[in-house]
Amino acid sequence: SRKGSVLVREIHEKQSQNKSRQRFWELAGSKLGDILGVEKTAEQIDADTAVVGDEGEVDFKEDARFSKHMKEKGEAVSDFAKTKTISQQRQYLPIYSVRDELLQVIRENQVIVVVGETGSGKTTQLTQYLHEDGYTTNGIVGCTQPRRVAAMSVAKRVSEEMETELGDLVGYAIRFEDETGPNTIIKYMTDGVLLRETLKDSDLDKYRVVVMDEAHERSLNTDVLFGILKKVVARRRDFKLIVTSATLNAQKFSNFFGSVPIFHIPGRTFPVNILYSKSPCEDYVEAAVKQAMTIHITSAPGDILIFMTGQDEIEATCYALAERMEQLVSTTKKGVPKLLILPIYSQLPADLQAKIFEKAEEGARKCIVATNIAETSLTVDGIFYVIDTGYGKMKVYNPRMGMDALQVFPVSRAAADQRAGRAGRTGPGTCYRLYTESAYQNEMLPNPVPEIQRTNLGNVVLLLKSLKIENLLDFDFMDPPPQENILNSMYQLWVLGALSNVGGLTSLGWKMVEFPLDPPLAKMLLMGEQLECVNEVLTIVSMLSVPSVFFRPKDRAEESDAAREKFFVPESDHLTLLNVYQQWKANDYRGGWCNDHFLHVKGLKKAREVRSQLLDILKMLKIPLTSCGPDWDIVRKAICSAYFHNSARLKGVGEYVNSRNGMPCHLHPSSALYGLGYTPDYVVYHELILTTKEYMQCATAVEPQWLAELGPMFFSVKESDTSLLEHKKKQKEEKTAMEQEMENLRNEQAEIERRN
Ligand code: CDP
Ligand code: MG
Repeated sequence: SRKGSVLVREIHEKQSQNKSRQRFWELAGSKLGDILGVEKTAEQIDADTAVVGDEGEVDFKEDARFSKHMKEKGEAVSDFAKTKTISQQRQYLPIYSVRDELLQVIRENQVIVVVGETGSGKTTQLTQYLHEDGYTTNGIVGCTQPRRVAAMSVAKRVSEEMETELGDLVGYAIRFEDETGPNTIIKYMTDGVLLRETLKDSDLDKYRVVVMDEAHERSLNTDVLFGILKKVVARRRDFKLIVTSATLNAQKFSNFFGSVPIFHIPGRTFPVNILYSKSPCEDYVEAAVKQAMTIHITSAPGDILIFMTGQDEIEATCYALAERMEQLVSTTKKGVPKLLILPIYSQLPADLQAKIFEKAEEGARKCIVATNIAETSLTVDGIFYVIDTGYGKMKVYNPRMGMDALQVFPVSRAAADQRAGRAGRTGPGTCYRLYTESAYQNEMLPNPVPEIQRTNLGNVVLLLKSLKIENLLDFDFMDPPPQENILNSMYQLWVLGALSNVGGLTSLGWKMVEFPLDPPLAKMLLMGEQLECVNEVLTIVSMLSVPSVFFRPKDRAEESDAAREKFFVPESDHLTLLNVYQQWKANDYRGGWCNDHFLHVKGLKKAREVRSQLLDILKMLKIPLTSCGPDWDIVRKAICSAYFHNSARLKGVGEYVNSRNGMPCHLHPSSALYGLGYTPDYVVYHELILTTKEYMQCATAVEPQWLAELGPMFFSVKESDTSLLEHKKKQKEEKTAMEQEMENLRNEQAEIERRN
C-alpha cells in the first residue's frame, strides 16, 4: 500500500505541475487560443489551477431544498434491470413511446435528425426498429459510433436484446477487428470503419440505412462522413440517413442536409442538484476520492460516477478508493457497505469494460470511474451521484510542435451539463462539481471545439485525395477546418512522399491509402519494401498499433522492469518491440511464456491479429514479405524514413532538442536507449507525450546521414549536424552580413566619388 500512495502522489504532482501546462500554453500560446476561440493567457491558466484554500479540501455550497429530495430518493432506487425482463426494459425506454411516429417520419423522409437525451434508447433501439420495419430485407442497417468501446458494448447489448449471438444478426466492426458475419443485418462500427468502406464502395450499396450516432461529438471521422454521405444521399434515392444527437444543436445538422426534419424524443429526466466547489480545487483526484467516500458512507443508495481525464488518473483514483475502503473496513467495527470500484476507459480490456453494466449485489454500491466516454456514449443505469472534475483530454494540433498532443483541458459547459445529467436518469440526483461556479460561467467554453478544427488532418487529406477530391478547401465540411491545418497536413504528407509537388497522390501515397494506419506507419511499412525488411517492419507497425504489451503491476514494479529490460535492444525501443514479438513467436506464442515475462498476452495476440490483417493488404498489393534476418540496422533506417520529422539531437547530458524547432524533448525513463551506455547524437521518436516533461515515446537511434538522405527538405549532408532552422538562421545572418558589406561598399564608393 506504500507503493500505492507513492503512485497517487506522483500523479498528484503531475496535476499540480502547473508549470508544464503553463509551458504548453506559452508554446502553443496564442495559437491554441485561436483554435479554441478564446483568449487565454498562461497566467490565467495558471490561475485556474492555482491553490486557493486549504489542502484541496472541497467545500460545497449546500442547497437546503435539496436535502428533501435526497431523503425521498432512497425509495426511488429500484434495481430496475434485475426485476424487469429485457423486453420490458425495452418498452420502458422513452423512445418506445414514439416508436410508430418515428418510423412514420423515417418512411416519409430520406434524411432525418433524431434528438434525445442520453439513455433514451437511440443507439440500442433505432437499429432494431428499422429492422422490425423491414429495412433489412434488402440491405443492412449500419450505425456509426465515434468510440470503439461504444460500438462493441452496444452491439453486445443489442445482440442480447435480439437473442442472437454477437457476430450473427448483430455485429460490430472496429479497426483491426470485424465481428460481423454473412447473417449480419445490424452492424455497429466506428465512424472510421465506415469512412474506409467508402473507399471501396463509394455508394455504400450494402447499406439500406446508416445511423450516424453521437453526431454531437463531432469526431473528425463523423465530420468527414457528413460531407461524403450527403453525396450518397443525393445519388441513391433508396438510401436513408439518420443523424442522432444528444444535444439540442441539431438545427445545424438539419441545415447541412437542406433543412431536414428534426424528431425529438420526449425526455424523461429527473432534477439534478448541482453543487459547486467553493474554491478551486488543487488536486481533483484526492477531492474526488474524498467526495465518493463521503457519499458512500453518508448518502442514500445510488451508484456513483466519477469523471477523470485518462487511464493514469482513473487507476490512481480506483487505487486510492480501494485503499480508503480497506482502511475503513479495518477500523470500523460496524460493517461497511461494499463499494464496487469499476474503471472504464477506451484501452481497458473488453471483459473488464463490460463489468460496469453488471448489477451490484444487494446492499453494495457501484462507483464507476470513467473518462468522458461515459458522458454520452455509454449509459449506465442507477447513477445518482456524479462527481465531475471539469477536465477532459482533448487532442489538439500544436502548430509549434507540428503534431497533435493529447492534453488536459477544461471541458465545455455543454459537456459539464451532460455529465451532470447522468445523475438524473433513474431519479433525482446530485452532481458535485470540483470547480467553482465562476469557473463554469466565465472560463468554460459554451460548446466543445469540433475535432476537425483542432487536429492533424493527415489521414483525412490522404483519404479525400484518394476519393479524387482535388481541392480540399472546397470539400463540403459542416465546419471547415482552418485552412492552415489543411495546408500543414498536406505539407506533412508531401514530406513523407505521399503527395507530389502539385498536391496529387504519388504512387507511394496511393499505396499508403490502402492501410488503416497513420501516414508515418504506412510509410514505414512501404519503406520496408524498398529496404527489403517488410517482415520486421510489419511486426513493429503491428506492435505500435496495440496498447503497450509490457505489464507493470504496481506491487511488482521492480520485478517487471527487470523483465522488460531483458528484451531491450539498446539502440531502439522499436526494435525492442520487434524482439519481444520474435521471442514470443519462438516460444510458440504461448500465454504462459508471456506471464513469466510480464507481457500482456492479450496485447500480443492483438498484435498478431493486426499483423495478419496488414499482411493481407501487403499480399493484395503484391508486396513480398522480405526479411533482413538478424541485421537490424536497415530496419532502423526504415523507422527513420517514417519519423525523420520527429527527430531530436543531443544537446546536453541526456537532453535532446527537436532538430527542426529546437524544442526540448526527453528520453522516457522506460526507454531502451538508456541501456546503450551512451546517448546517441540523433534519435527519431513515435510521438511526444506531454506530462511533467516532453517525453519522446518510443525512440530509435539513427545515423545523421539517414536524416539527410530521407529528409532532404530538412537536413543537408554538409551540415548534417545542424538543423534547418539553424541553417536558415545562418543563411539569414550571412545575407545580412552580405548586405551590410554591400552597403559599406556603396558608402565607400560614394565617399570616393564625393572626394573626387
Ligand atoms: O443512445 P441513447 O443514449 O439514447 O441510449 P442507449 O445507449 O440506447 O441506451 C438505452 C438503454 O440501454 C439504457 O438504459 C442503457 O442502460 C441500456 N444499455 C445497457 O444496458 N447496456 C449497454 N451496453 C448499452 C445500453
Ligand atoms: Mg447513444
